[in-house]
Amino acid sequence: MFKTRITEMLGIQHPILQGGMQWLAKAELVSAVANAGGMGFITAVSFASVAELRDEIRKTRDMTDKPFGVNVSMLPVMMPGDLTEAFFDVVCEEGIPVVETAGRNPEPYVPKLKSAGVKLIHKVPAVRFARKAESIGADAVIVVGFECGGHPGMDDVPSLIVLPKAAQELNVPVIAAGGFCDGKSLVAALALGAEAVLMGTRFMAAKESPMHENFKNWMIEAQETDTMVVERSIRNAARIMKNEAAQTVAKMEAEGATLEDLLPVIAGRVGREAYLSGDTDLGTIACGQVVGRIHEIKSVKEIMDDIISEAEQTIQRLNVIAGV
Ligand SMILES: Cc1cc2nc3c(=O)[nH]c(=O)nc-3n(C[C@H](O)[C@H](O)[C@H](O)COP(=O)(O)O)c2cc1C
Repeated sequence: MFKTRITEMLGIQHPILQGGMQWLAKAELVSAVANAGGMGFITAVSFASVAELRDEIRKTRDMTDKPFGVNVSMLPVMMPGDLTEAFFDVVCEEGIPVVETAGRNPEPYVPKLKSAGVKLIHKVPAVRFARKAESIGADAVIVVGFECGGHPGMDDVPSLIVLPKAAQELNVPVIAAGGFCDGKSLVAALALGAEAVLMGTRFMAAKESPMHENFKNWMIEAQETDTMVVERSIRNAARIMKNEAAQTVAKMEAEGATLEDLLPVIAGRVGREAYLSGDTDLGTIACGQVVGRIHEIKSVKEIMDDIISEAEQTIQRLNVIAGV
């Protein structure tokens, strides 16, 4: 029913994408999204080597015959040991049809991706970056609002503003991210000019999401006020679960901590330890405000089917209101 330039471009049934999620967006989750008619992205930074990423791609292929993508999250600046270029090589060699990039300008990698026929979808937190992404050849742009889990940028502009503005200004399709979880919000995104939604937090709370049950239980209980934004002092704002680690980071930042001081608390590997151990106070764990609208742990298929049927009902309701 929902046919957009994104469903056409990606060859998927529903305009619903699962965004990159370090440690979580692996074969089980990504293949479940693909099998349910959406597009999932294996998150390259979950892997310490290109060989591990390649294995995960192959494992995912064994679990679905539908298309899926790879997320390549880049740090704002290139650091020693950066595997970005090598991750893109694997993407091209493995015939992955689409990448989701985030973190810094992917322009240096555009020729490589284009010549391998890989679609580039870049994720940004502001209209000016969306324009830039289009200008360097992105095939579509994801705009995240301030409510999103992960990195909302430094401007604090919510989806209700950044999405319609980007959709109006760009010629390439725009994908909405930040605050989407159900059929009503999918219809709202389409109404604002998006051609798909990309969700993180909703899929984080899926049955197939490989994190300890304690986190799932925390999410079911959490309210929309149970996330906070940290790491502004290092210009890498991040919306995360409001837990002990988050409060520690906020306190350290208020006291003038440097990136080096913060690293032992904010490093990704601490989050991985938390997911495995079930210690919900350990590590800075990305989570969007939409957690306050998630009350059930469902399978990916249930999540997707419910979104589509609720979206259809929502449109019927709007038709009644509009007297159509
Ligand atoms: C637990 C979690 C981990 C995430 N990790 C990444 C990541 O590694 N790379 C990335 O580009 N985005 C990451 N994100 C952001 C999502 O891909 C997506 O942009 C965001 O979740 C959308 O907002 P929502 O949480 O309101 O759905 C993460 C989000 C969450 C919730």
